[in-house]
Amino acid sequence: MATEPTPVGQKSGPGMDTQLGKAVVDARLATAAEVAACIAKRAKLKEAGRDIELSEILVKAGIVTANQLKRLANPADDSISSSLAQIPGYQVMQKIGAGAMASVYKAKQLSLDRIVAIKILPKRMSEDPEFVKRFYKEGRAAARLNHNNIVQAIDVGEYGGFHYFVMEFVDGKTVYDEMAARRAYGEADALKIIIQMARALEHAHAKGFIHRDVKPKNIMLTKDGTAKLADMGLAREAGDVAAAAAEKGRAYGTPYYISPEQVRGVEDVDFRADIYSLGATLYHMVTGRVPFEGDTPTSIMHKHLKEPLVPPDHINPSISTGMAEVIECAMAKDRATRYQSTSDLLVDLERVARGEAPLQARSGYSDKLLENLAHGQDEPAPRGPGGPGDAAEGGSGTSPVLLGAVIAEAAVILILIIVLMMR
Ligand SMILES: Nc1ncnc2c1ncn2[C@@H]1O[C@H](COP(=O)(O)OP(=O)(O)OP(=O)(O)O)[C@@H](O)[C@H]1O
Ligand SMILES: [Mg+2]
Repeated sequence: MATEPTPVGQKSGPGMDTQLGKAVVDARLATAAEVAACIAKRAKLKEAGRDIELSEILVKAGIVTANQLKRLANPADDSISSSLAQIPGYQVMQKIGAGAMASVYKAKQLSLDRIVAIKILPKRMSEDPEFVKRFYKEGRAAARLNHNNIVQAIDVGEYGGFHYFVMEFVDGKTVYDEMAARRAYGEADALKIIIQMARALEHAHAKGFIHRDVKPKNIMLTKDGTAKLADMGLAREAGDVAAAAAEKGRAYGTPYYISPEQVRGVEDVDFRADIYSLGATLYHMVTGRVPFEGDTPTSIMHKHLKEPLVPPDHINPSISTGMAEVIECAMAKDRATRYQSTSDLLVDLERVARGEAPLQARSGYSDKLLENLAHGQDEPAPRGPGGPGDAAEGGSGTSPVLLGAVIAEAAVILILIIVLMMR
């Protein structure tokens, strides 16, 4: 990273704001537009006599977490150390990206003389056994999958106190990068990518894996137009009830694309969560807007649970009716009224791409709606495999994830008020 980010809590002027903003964008924690909006907000607040740090505004807006800012302010913690450059068998080159959990480096695998990507857990996080467990799980899960539309896992290990996993290097951009540059995709271009993702998920689901974090940042595009699903970090076997129980009440997904059942923290999250997130990703790609916007992660998650979706063709009237139907079926709030298999979704996506009407979206979804209308229900009734998770579907009980997020946000606001009162 070329710039020195502003240390968190340090008083900053406009120059420092630009540096912090650039560091946040460079680290891919936010888009330039998001940072610009926060800088504008800061200026507005200042005009009104309230001098609030940009870092605080970014955190309060839910764009970055306080921990991400801390990591930015302490690059030594996140940067490659001399010991890492000597991972046996690899020659580590430059950093190519950083996400919420790890950094990704380009490297050469010496034995095969090929370029690979290495994801490295920061040392501080390597000391957290739970993070390490998830990190190894990502490697193991991905290694069991082999598909042209999935980023191939190659190796996993530990060196000099750092845990790392080696994967196929994808020379290209993410869908997130492309959208930052072009805003929205045309229907045909979006379908080319999403069909490949549906194939990747069909393969993973058939092997019992759920991705749980399908989103534009996790779709990589090669120069020849191949789309590859990255980050099996949240993957786990569908039958792994113990893991599900351990994760209960915690949302690991990203709020813009997260399924309602993940927001609820149900234990039996299944492949239909990926169908929802893929639908949400497609929605964003063809409308240029995320399905639900909000000032905080909590409000976004709440909207996934309760707010009706604005039909995508109301936002972009140029998209076909079939496309809108497929998205709405994939994004049904009750997973029992979504596509009931990834193959069914794939069939409909391919039909829409050929200019034909979707089959499942039209028949399955409308039948279900009629059935519910006949029963006088506003929301579709729970159905499907049963179990406690389904019983809660569409229910009004407070989600443990949402509750946690509300408490965390309240704490941030309280700290902000105390800080402001002390001035
Ligand atoms: N196999 C790969 N080949 C090339 N670049 C990669 C590869 N995997 C990841 N990257 C790059 O590294 C960046 C960081 O990836 P990472 O998975 O750590 O986070 P993310 O998915 O962008 O965000 P988040 O942590 O919020 O989910 C990606 O955005 C991408 O640009
Ligand atoms: Mg990723």
